[in-house]
Amino acid sequence: MKSVLVTGAGGGLGREIALQAARRGCAVGVLDLNATAAQETAVLCGKAGPAALAIGKDLTCNGAPKEAVKEVCAAWGRLDVLVNNAGYGGIEAFLDMTEAMWDRTLAINVKALALACAAAGRVMREQRAGRIVNITSPASRMALPNYAAYAASKAGVDSVTRAAAVALAPYGVTVNSVAPGMMDTEMQRSTEADLAKLEGREDIEAFLAERTRRVPLGRRTDCETVAAAVIWLALDAPDYVTAERLNISGGLDKD
Ligand SMILES: NC(=O)c1ccc[n+]([C@@H]2O[C@H](COP(=O)([O-])OP(=O)(O)OC[C@H]3O[C@@H](n4cnc5c(N)ncnc54)[C@H](O)[C@@H]3O)[C@@H](O)[C@H]2O)c1
Repeated sequence: MKSVLVTGAGGGLGREIALQAARRGCAVGVLDLNATAAQETAVLCGKAGPAALAIGKDLTCNGAPKEAVKEVCAAWGRLDVLVNNAGYGGIEAFLDMTEAMWDRTLAINVKALALACAAAGRVMREQRAGRIVNITSPASRMALPNYAAYAASKAGVDSVTRAAAVALAPYGVTVNSVAPGMMDTEMQRSTEADLAKLEGREDIEAFLAERTRRVPLGRRTDCETVAAAVIWLALDAPDYVTAERLNISGGLDKD
């Protein structure tokens, strides 16, 4: 039985990744800032798979990534897979950017993710095995003046992914990332509503349709599709795949 830790698994993409891992027979640590939501996902995973543990935790608190890894290891004796999915992003005009937005975004998307890679990496080094999958975004390579902190944070995720892949390669541990296209999650809905407002667009449906048309495949994706790619990297991909970024963005990202 493999032991998996998924961060930000109280809803959206993270919940779907946790569920697919459970269905594949993994024990799943379900971490989220929202403890009630983490508990709900853990109940679903417990029904779908062998074991689940809810971890209600703010990953940006001092020592939290290390504690989360410790909790999973205490439950199942090892950590085979870490999925760094927890994330935050907010819309604000470039010239009106705030310190609060930068602090909150970088704290979870980059700093906590890097510390979680290191905490899991130390356990995986001893095991001489393990896989880490980080969730990045097409935004990391786009010029997004009204979403600058988020885009920069995801460029940070790409940087940490490369560094972690090289640091952990001598121990047989792989580190890759997945860049999802637009999935209609809670985060995506509120982000696009805020963007429409900032751009003075009241015709939200037309605004969303325009954004969808920019995707070469002409449609949005969903959590099930993106989670399947994460699970493939975490459980099925050849063990020679590391430092890779897998775009599940319908052609939005082109390499
Ligand atoms: N939705 C999209 O279209 C899209 C596109 C590209 C990338 N992504 C990325 O996918 C990942 C999941 O996004 P989602 O759309 O499911 O968002 P979501 O907001 O639905 O889920 C994110 C989860 O992370 C949790 N979280 C946030 N801060 C946390 C913290 N400090 N500690 C612990 N948990 C915390 C939230 O409580 C939430 O449950 C994110 O990394 C996001 O940047 C999403």
